[in-house]
Amino acid sequence: DQATDLQGKTILITAGPTREPLDPVRYISNHSSGKMGYAMAAAAADAGANVVLVSGPVSVRPPAGVDVMRVETAQQMLDAVMQHVKAADIFIATAAVADYKAKVLENNKIKKKGDELTLTFVKNPDILKEVAALPDAPFAVGFAAESQNLAHYAKSKLEKKKLAMVAANDITTSGLGFNSDYNALHVFWENGDKQLGPAPKTQLARELLSLIDERYKNKSSN
Ligand code: C5P
Repeated sequence: DQATDLQGKTILITAGPTREPLDPVRYISNHSSGKMGYAMAAAAADAGANVVLVSGPVSVRPPAGVDVMRVETAQQMLDAVMQHVKAADIFIATAAVADYKAKVLENNKIKKKGDELTLTFVKNPDILKEVAALPDAPFAVGFAAESQNLAHYAKSKLEKKKLAMVAANDITTSGLGFNSDYNALHVFWENGDKQLGPAPKTQLARELLSLIDERYKNKSSN
């Protein structure tokens, strides 16, 4: 395999959506399928890495040889990530984490009343940002789903979140991205960039992983 330098490395990956409860029967979430994160986990396991996959609720089957931790909320995802991050050489954040959660989790089902319902949301932790800010941070790779000015937003995410790499995708391209088996990525790092795909997510994951491997080697030999 091309990515043999990842042999024995520990790679921590987040995948899927998070689910933020409103009351005992309802939640807010998003359409993330988890396919890209699961494909990254499979590619990393194939390359001989120890893979810990922290996954929100998805229906894709976990790849063989991967240690899966199932979570629902962003807070649970953060806790699971923090539990495993010390051992991680590389952190890949593919999860579509809900940016906000309900300010109040109602103990009882919210009853149907008037014509409008107002709920207040508060910010969730930014898992990727917190990981990248750790004193002994792993090589941190983020994703960026953008609908405009892709390169600009991806590069500013790289700087603001202090990431090693960002893989950006244009969510306006039909047939690619969310819920699809295909995607195209524009990957950025400090002094370079590369376009991958359009290709099946399984192939894209292998290509992205070997790019991560290349940059990771480059960084650790400095
Ligand atoms: O800032 P934005 O949400 O666009 O950044 C996307 C990247 O940050 C993805 O890699 C995503 O997994 C990660 N993220 C996170 N925790 C959040 C929000 C985003 O880890 N609360």
